[in-house]
Amino acid sequence: MWRPSRELEKIRRDWEERFREDPTLSSDIGMRFGKPDQHVIDFIEGNKINPYKHKRILDLGCGNGRNSLWLVKNGFEVYGIDFSKSAIDFCKEHVKGAKFIVGYAQQLPFKDEFFDVVIDAGTIHVNPPSERE
Ligand SMILES: C[S@@+](CC[C@H](N)C(=O)[O-])C[C@H]1O[C@@H](n2cnc3c(N)ncnc32)[C@H](O)[C@@H]1O
Repeated sequence: MWRPSRELEKIRRDWEERFREDPTLSSDIGMRFGKPDQHVIDFIEGNKINPYKHKRILDLGCGNGRNSLWLVKNGFEVYGIDFSKSAIDFCKEHVKGAKFIVGYAQQLPFKDEFFDVVIDAGTIHVNPPSERE
């Protein structure tokens, strides 16, 4: 059975603390709530991903849900997962119409091929190399 390494647990605690202090990440120009990631928008639009063909999307490491919110507004069925409980609590309150769960990217509680699309906006690259596969 997979278990997080100590290094990954430290990373989780650091994110948890950050979201507990301010889940909007208002001081972070790159990740603040209310401002979706332009790379996500470009990826969706550039690959002609649309809710008629690719309905169900996983926002892996969704943080405060800023990208999930944009995806919901654009008609997708959105699931978000993040290992920060404070982030997920914020998402549940502020991003209506999506489903959110606390969990690890390394141990997804979904059946294979449940999603049409998975987006990872800055998530796996903050993990130790040994936990990126
Ligand atoms: C750089 S932030 C990006 C957040 C969000 N994708 C965005 O664009 O605003 C990385 C996020 O991934 C989450 N995260 C990192 N590693 C994770 C893992 N192994 N499992 C679940 N969540 C993880 C963190 O809690 C944090 O919310």
